[in-house]
Amino acid sequence: MNKDTYVIGIIGCGAMGSGIAQVALQNGHPVIIFDENENARQASNVLIDKQFKKRIEKGKMSESQWTSCMDRLRFATNLGDLKSCNLIIEAIIEDLVIKQNLFQKLESQVSQSCIIATNTSSLSIAALSSAFRNPERFIGLHFFNPAPLMPLVEIIPGIRTAHQISDLLKQLMQTWEKQPVTAKDTPGFIVNRIARPFYSEALRIAEEGIADYATIDWAMKTLGQFKMGPFELMDLIGHDVNYRVTCSVWTELFYDPRFKPSITQKRWFEAGLYGRKTGQGCYSYSEHQSLPEPQKNTELGHYILNRILVMLINEAADALYFGVASAEDIEIAMKKGVNYPIGLLAWGNQLGISHVVQTLDDLYNTYQEERYRVSPKLRACLRLNTPL
Ligand SMILES: NC(=O)c1ccc[n+]([C@@H]2O[C@H](COP(=O)([O-])OP(=O)(O)OC[C@H]3O[C@@H](n4cnc5c(N)ncnc54)[C@H](O)[C@@H]3O)[C@@H](O)[C@H]2O)c1
Repeated sequence: MNKDTYVIGIIGCGAMGSGIAQVALQNGHPVIIFDENENARQASNVLIDKQFKKRIEKGKMSESQWTSCMDRLRFATNLGDLKSCNLIIEAIIEDLVIKQNLFQKLESQVSQSCIIATNTSSLSIAALSSAFRNPERFIGLHFFNPAPLMPLVEIIPGIRTAHQISDLLKQLMQTWEKQPVTAKDTPGFIVNRIARPFYSEALRIAEEGIADYATIDWAMKTLGQFKMGPFELMDLIGHDVNYRVTCSVWTELFYDPRFKPSITQKRWFEAGLYGRKTGQGCYSYSEHQSLPEPQKNTELGHYILNRILVMLINEAADALYFGVASAEDIEIAMKKGVNYPIGLLAWGNQLGISHVVQTLDDLYNTYQEERYRVSPKLRACLRLNTPL
């Protein structure tokens, strides 16, 4: 493929669309961005230019590369302007009907061979593909925020996607120095499914009064080597986003109790306490207020880490069991998409499968809740004495 002539179209230039456009430009493609909102188009142009200037300051880009990138960038005011595109990545608002309407209008405006991808985090690729006359050309291509910095890209072929499209996008993502993984079209794909207990079990521990937010964050960072604790991370992601993802995975998995959302988070969401962006969430971010001090009790810390970790390992094992992704891709996804220090399957083997199963069974016996149901994959590993 000649990148100079392989034109990338982006629809929707908010946080994600602008970031993906920047990556495509850095990789030598002509890029055409369409957004229905003029202010968004202007803001995106300014943002992309600013990001390139930052790269120059850091010595990651030359002035001539910057000029070349900006010369290859065009903004479009109607969908017909995308007709020369070879690949279009949609990154508009997360709404099934709005995306379907867009795809219906788009398909007749582009060439037969144009690949159309969606950056959706939570919608079913199958449901979105029903808007197409030719659904074989359509696929999920899920970047992480911020797209220029996060290496992971989940590739999600739908049941009607042509096989060669997955392969082609995998190769393209590798040339963009991204780390592509392949996920089945299942709720939350890989990362947003497996990572759920990082937040939900932390919330549960706090709701039970076992430890406060600061102590849970301290335990996960200091004893578990996670870059951020669950509460500071939820405040950064925003409870609007995080709560919606949780609800979406839970409902899409037919209300599996393992994914049940937390009342505490629902209240933050309802009250508009989204976290850093509103100045308050789990913590308060006013200028004069410092974050609360944790209770640095190692025994309590190990309990917290162990409980959240076994829940995460259980989810990773279950995703493997249900063929959401290969073991290799599950490990890559959690390390490159959410910066986990070790892959969860490897962590399970390190802790010992019998320890993981015993801890979950103890929680199950204590609470009598399906939430602590052990994955058949872990039971099989224990029975056969094999690693994950
Ligand atoms: N923000 C994240 O962390 C993140 C991460 C991964 C994936 N995603 C997904 O990426 C997509 C975009 O998210 P975002 O955070 O960049 O959203 P955003 O709100 O920042 O930007 C969306 C843009 O789409 C434009 N838009 C809305 N409807 C449109 C239409 N019908 N036609 C053309 N343009 C339209 C809006 O004007 C806006 O500029 C969503 O599907 C989201 O789920 C978001």
